[in-house]
Amino acid sequence: MSTPVATRQHDFEGLSIRYDDRVLAPRDWTAAQSHWAAELIASAPPGPVLELCAGAGQIGLLAVRLASAPLVCVEADPVACGFLRANAEAAGVRVDLREGPMDQVLHPDERFAVVIADPPWVARPEVGRFPEDPVTAIDGGPDGLDLVRGCLAVIEQHLLATGSAVLQIGPGQAGAVTALVATYAHLRVVELREFERGALVRIDRLRDGSAPE
Ligand SMILES: C[S@@+](CC[C@H](N)C(=O)[O-])C[C@H]1O[C@@H](n2cnc3c(N)ncnc32)[C@H](O)[C@@H]1O
Repeated sequence: MSTPVATRQHDFEGLSIRYDDRVLAPRDWTAAQSHWAAELIASAPPGPVLELCAGAGQIGLLAVRLASAPLVCVEADPVACGFLRANAEAAGVRVDLREGPMDQVLHPDERFAVVIADPPWVARPEVGRFPEDPVTAIDGGPDGLDLVRGCLAVIEQHLLATGSAVLQIGPGQAGAVTALVATYAHLRVVELREFERGALVRIDRLRDGSAPE
């Protein structure tokens, strides 16, 4: 018989978030991503918000609590999805949850005004430095950027023109991520905000037909 996993609870700026040790624990500094996304929702074109790599859901839930908008969440891990559903219900937020890998669960024609993305970004050789975190939540592949690349591909395809994305990355990854964004003709890095435990990058989608600066 398998040992039951204890459910934990975390107050994320007033949201009661439940999770367990199979899921990444909520990190308080990441509320900055919710606040930034909420600011962008207020000035973005009309449309839903997409949260990629949502985990237990707290970043997207807080964003749409601060700035009301329809929310679509994508998460590959069924355990995290179970917590996300319960956390959304407890928050009174209706979420369209897509359970599966981000490159498989969106219709090609879907478009979003704002994208929140929090991919695993630890380089595989470094994963052992974080024994408390589930490997699938933090393993970003050989250079840490495999899932960042995946998020950029989704952002390129699904972000509305003049919409914005807020992408979470690791400390020291801003240069490499800016170079990756530069390979997309319609995306540009607008602003970087650095924190002790990670960084947030705002990426805008240019109006179709306009030339990148
Ligand atoms: C760094 S964690 C972030 C979770 C949550 N946003 C948080 O702050 O606690 C990354 C999440 O991405 C999920 N994930 C990994 N690969 C994915 C993929 N290809 N598509 C969708 N989600 C994925 C993991 O299961 C994990 O929950």
